[in-house]
Amino acid sequence: MNDIKKQFQKRASDYNSYTKWLKDEELFRLCTLPLRDYPNNAKCLDIGGGTGWLAYKDYKESGRKWTVVDISEDMGNIVPNEIEFICSKAESIPLPDESFDFIIIRSVLEYTEVDKVLLEVKRLLKEEGYFVLAQKVMDGYITDINLILKLEQLRNPLKKNLGFMSNINKSVSKTNLRILNSRTYTQNYSISYDKWLKRNGTIPEANQKELENIINNLEVDVSSRTGLKLIDNNLHSKLTWGIITCHKNSYVNPRINIVVSMIVEKTLNDKKYIVLQKRKYLYTEPHYYNVWELPQGKVEKDETIFETAKRELFEETGLNLFGSLLPNSIETINDITLNQSDVLTTVFAKGGMNYLGVCVLVKAEGEFETGIQDTEPQWVEVGSLKNKLENERFFPLNIPMIKKYIEYVG
Ligand SMILES: C[S@@+](CC[C@H](N)C(=O)[O-])C[C@H]1O[C@@H](n2cnc3c(N)ncnc32)[C@H](O)[C@@H]1O
Repeated sequence: MNDIKKQFQKRASDYNSYTKWLKDEELFRLCTLPLRDYPNNAKCLDIGGGTGWLAYKDYKESGRKWTVVDISEDMGNIVPNEIEFICSKAESIPLPDESFDFIIIRSVLEYTEVDKVLLEVKRLLKEEGYFVLAQKVMDGYITDINLILKLEQLRNPLKKNLGFMSNINKSVSKTNLRILNSRTYTQNYSISYDKWLKRNGTIPEANQKELENIINNLEVDVSSRTGLKLIDNNLHSKLTWGIITCHKNSYVNPRINIVVSMIVEKTLNDKKYIVLQKRKYLYTEPHYYNVWELPQGKVEKDETIFETAKRELFEETGLNLFGSLLPNSIETINDITLNQSDVLTTVFAKGGMNYLGVCVLVKAEGEFETGIQDTEPQWVEVGSLKNKLENERFFPLNIPMIKKYIEYVG
């Protein structure tokens, strides 16, 4: 058994009660921020998730499905039954590609082969997935770096020092994950000095003596800069976390899909209505689940714009497109010029998957066939659109289209 695994097998039984930063609410909030925009069916993975504390807390709050992967079965034995546990090395995880919407790695990377683990993250994330890396960093200790490094090495000889935020950012960027946000968070904490010194027998005895020597001889100015102080047999300290949020896709070699969006208009008793529907791609795009959108779809090979529009409208709603109001002079994508005022094109760039949307105003006949794609199409009064746009969630590509339409109808 490797030494890191041995250490965590030993630490497992009192890991939850002993680890001071584990239950910090703000740290939890920062680590799970991208999940706030996800519905509760997002599939989540905690790599090196230990006792499953973070996974279980989010599960209790949201009901989301979590998997914890960890090298130590003893840590895994503490993971609650509601959370799936897989005993595996983070460098090679026995799960299929693109299995997760969200992946977190907290306080683990320093024990692993960093590049291999980050490649696993990239492989396991779904196309639109998010990744959070939370890691203790030295950025808060610039002037006392050698002292802090020495303490870390004595307390945890198996840990690699990953250094500063800048090093971690570099490793993540190498994997082509796109960094959306990179921040630090500093916690102050205090812990029983005896526990800190001995930690469940995992700190070598010789190191304990040296640790004791350093702590008992701290200079006052070092204490005030680092926050390291021994008061009433409690050790006070501060801890700086680097927290990086990434999207799976970088802008390298982005794909562009051409999408035809339709504003399907009808007039009834002097009132204008258009068709809106709710996005229902639960598994592929959970973060847009239940968001309003126009009927729309990607242009397929050799299709004209109106062939795409006709096909997509029928597939999504059961309606038959029979006439176009705007534009009236284009047939294929090649006919569109950049300054064409009667075609609204919008670009929605998100990373690897980008959309160029062409919006057409059309008429249709027939009745909705509900249940075809579960999209719940409905006629929405044009007068209510402005309010809806301000207060409800819309698919980003369609927002400028609908705004322009509202201007157009006055
Ligand atoms: C400090 S604990 C952090 C646990 C958890 N992420 C948390 O935030 O509470 C580090 C965890 O990483 C696990 N670990 C270390 N090296 C690993 C590896 N190569 N593969 C998978 N897990 C590993 C350990 O077993 C331990 O549970």
